[in-house]
Amino acid sequence: MNLKIAVLPGDGIGPEISRQGVDVMTAVCEKFGHSVDYRYGICGADAIDKVGDPFPQETYETCLWADAVLFSAVGDPKFDNNPNAKVRPEQGLLAMRKKLGLFANIRPVETFDCLIHKSPLRAELVEGADFICIRELTGGMYFGEKYEDNERAYDTNAYTRAEIERILRVAYSYALRRRKHLTVVDKANVLASSRLWRKVAQEIATEYPDVTTDYMYVDNAAMRMIQEPRFFDVMVTENTFGDILTDEGSVISGSMGLLPSASTGEKTPVFEPIHGSWPQAKGLNIANPLAQILSVAMLFEYFDLIEEGALIRKAVNASLDENVRTPEIQVEGGAKYGTKEVGEWIVEYIKKA
Ligand code: IPM
Ligand code: MG
Repeated sequence: MNLKIAVLPGDGIGPEISRQGVDVMTAVCEKFGHSVDYRYGICGADAIDKVGDPFPQETYETCLWADAVLFSAVGDPKFDNNPNAKVRPEQGLLAMRKKLGLFANIRPVETFDCLIHKSPLRAELVEGADFICIRELTGGMYFGEKYEDNERAYDTNAYTRAEIERILRVAYSYALRRRKHLTVVDKANVLASSRLWRKVAQEIATEYPDVTTDYMYVDNAAMRMIQEPRFFDVMVTENTFGDILTDEGSVISGSMGLLPSASTGEKTPVFEPIHGSWPQAKGLNIANPLAQILSVAMLFEYFDLIEEGALIRKAVNASLDENVRTPEIQVEGGAKYGTKEVGEWIVEYIKKA
């Protein structure tokens, strides 16, 4: 296969983990006889500084050229506490999602046995937890009508039947390949938009008799996720609820630095870590590259290159088993590996496999 990849390193630790992701991708392509072309694009604060736009047209065109986007992270503290900033790095991410029509965000929450002790939850609760959150990504409050002056402001949480239906179908396709249990998360006791979600979900559910569908209010789901994370198999929810629940879900595993995600929809799909740009760690070679490397595994799997993805997962597990770990997950007294060293170890493992 010939793969065209747009690489968007972004801000903070983005460029460091991006490099490791690209090196792993190249190693896997060499191993399996695929050719790969990379083109780089600027985004986020980096692109604001350079051209005044967090998702410039040229970067958009690079994404359209590509079969897939390998994205890292955007964000810079100089924008965070300034509500008057006219343009922010995060707008670049939102523009990318909207312009590429990436309505389905797939965020798996997995646990790694050797890292269970890092979880804020007790091991007996979290062991074996394995679920996927399917977050709607191009609708709801993020993109609905907005108004803002000094006395009054609002965001509109609008959804159409078609938007709800297409994300539900993605969720069912995952549920059918897994444990056949879908939880639809909403706030139908209060919100009109949620009532439409539930109405559409109840209709669609009849088309998937092999899947057990249940419905849960978002406040209850937030609680259940920490009380009994193993309850969940696939959950599907709207944009804002999904944003909140996936941060909650991501720490269950013990490190945010381990979880990848995929955003798919109408145009080029995007693969990226769940974590942000961690500006304080920029240039220190301490950020965990595993979420980025696992997002490369998801990228291969998206193109049905299953063995390629499996080899990356195997290499990642081996690095954890061998204690080749970045500082935040290293065992007491163990050697601390840098971003680059973990990446290089994984590349070597792949070459030798
Ligand atoms: C995420 C992030 C983004 C979001 C931010 C950076 C705009 O939190 O991908 O979850 O809110 O969607
Ligand atoms: Mg978020």
